[in-house]
Amino acid sequence: MTVSTSTLPRTDTDLAYQRCINPRCGVTLPVDRAVFSCPDCGDLLDVIYDWDRLPVPSRLSDFEAKWSRRLDPLCFSGVWRFHDLMPFVPPEKVVTIGEGQTLLRPSTKAAQYVGVNEGNLLLQYEGMNPSGSFKDNGMTAAFSHANMVGARRVACASTGNTSASLAVFCSATDFGFKAIIFIGSGKIAYGKLAQALDHGALTIQIVGDFDDALARVREVADRLGIYLMNSVNPFRLEGQKAVMLRVLEALGWEVPDWIVVPGGNLGNSSAFGKAFQELHYLGLIDRIPRLAVINAAGAQTLDQLVRSRGLLWNSGLPDESISKAYYDHLDLEHIRASTIASAIEINRPVNLKKCLRALDVCDGVVRQVSDQEIMDAKARVGAGGLGCEPASAASVAGAKRLREEGIIAPSDRVVCILTGHQLKDPNATVAYHSADREEFDRVLGSRGVKRAGFANRPVVVPNELDAIIRTIGLYSDAPPTA
Ligand code: F0G
Repeated sequence: MTVSTSTLPRTDTDLAYQRCINPRCGVTLPVDRAVFSCPDCGDLLDVIYDWDRLPVPSRLSDFEAKWSRRLDPLCFSGVWRFHDLMPFVPPEKVVTIGEGQTLLRPSTKAAQYVGVNEGNLLLQYEGMNPSGSFKDNGMTAAFSHANMVGARRVACASTGNTSASLAVFCSATDFGFKAIIFIGSGKIAYGKLAQALDHGALTIQIVGDFDDALARVREVADRLGIYLMNSVNPFRLEGQKAVMLRVLEALGWEVPDWIVVPGGNLGNSSAFGKAFQELHYLGLIDRIPRLAVINAAGAQTLDQLVRSRGLLWNSGLPDESISKAYYDHLDLEHIRASTIASAIEINRPVNLKKCLRALDVCDGVVRQVSDQEIMDAKARVGAGGLGCEPASAASVAGAKRLREEGIIAPSDRVVCILTGHQLKDPNATVAYHSADREEFDRVLGSRGVKRAGFANRPVVVPNELDAIIRTIGLYSDAPPTA
């Protein structure tokens, strides 16, 4: 009988392998298997490295040498210039589209809004990625793994950004990847739907929400042997570690006090925790920043489980009866996730356990913020010059909350992750700033948003030169010019 090498357990010579996160199981698998849950117990898988036998730079600043070799796509990529810290794939199998050319920028307006000292509120702008969100960091890693194992049909369920990124990677590369995406009906912002369609993905709109779509795509991927690109795929999270590496890089390798990130399926928070745990283990950082994960109030599973019901990582054995009771309660009461921050409109976060680990590693906290707080924070972020979508602004709204509670100090250096670009969801932005009450009520009022305290309303004027000049005089501070 011949046995495919991809079904053999890992050997002791493997420098990278997969391992079940459940310490009672701990099954290990070779890195070239694509199963996405533990074949023995069904739990999440981690990518593990034998760091003692891998070449790792002795200082993070050694990575700066890559900047002078930017013509090499692996040095240009904001993910793969850190290949040494995610060495699961040989360089010749890497699939990159130039992801990770992002900015970390202080925002005075956001600092004032949050209440920290000027210069201490920094925005990590992941909207600059080719598909307009942080997803490209994880997608380049998962596509590289797919390429390594020879997969060509790739699928995901999505609230919009994962699918946009998947569609971009399939269409921008010449490996013959075919994109299949599952979205909930009426649940996806138009900018994201436009991307899936424009980039040629097979787009399957199911009657249901994201939680339904994810359950279905997992079954379909299993049945048809399609490669799954959701963040249950541990290789996605390896790529997302790079967001934190670029934050450190932009700070001259200094560790900030806080990382604040929106929480949906909890892939980012999980990846960030793993990044810091590994960097600390490797002696590349001397302390770990605190992590704040921010739910939208209409999709508050993490906040409910951690703060109201006391769920803890507990050395890898969280009390699963707590989460089960909560999910049973959601089912019994027919509670579905509902928030203007459609990207994080998720009630069953698949990476819950890994996020609990990240909270443990990073002395983390969890909060939930209302759609009102999200939209107000978003307007202040926009006024400061970086446009983000509603889910991203949950980070800034959450930082404000934590500052008001005295958990974040004014002197703390706080990095908020702006996960997705403003143009992903123009409807929410225009409704907030609009002078049209009906539009406001339809898009935002229905979500409990009552005010637009930071609105920049368009001014309606007759089509007459004098009236236009009078209006400009009325609304602008600049002296009229001759
Ligand atoms: N922000 C944005 C803009 C997102 O698109 C997502 C997730 C998140 C935050 C939450 O990140 O899942 O790592 O906690 N979007 C997924 C999608 C679910 O399908 O595009 P997370």
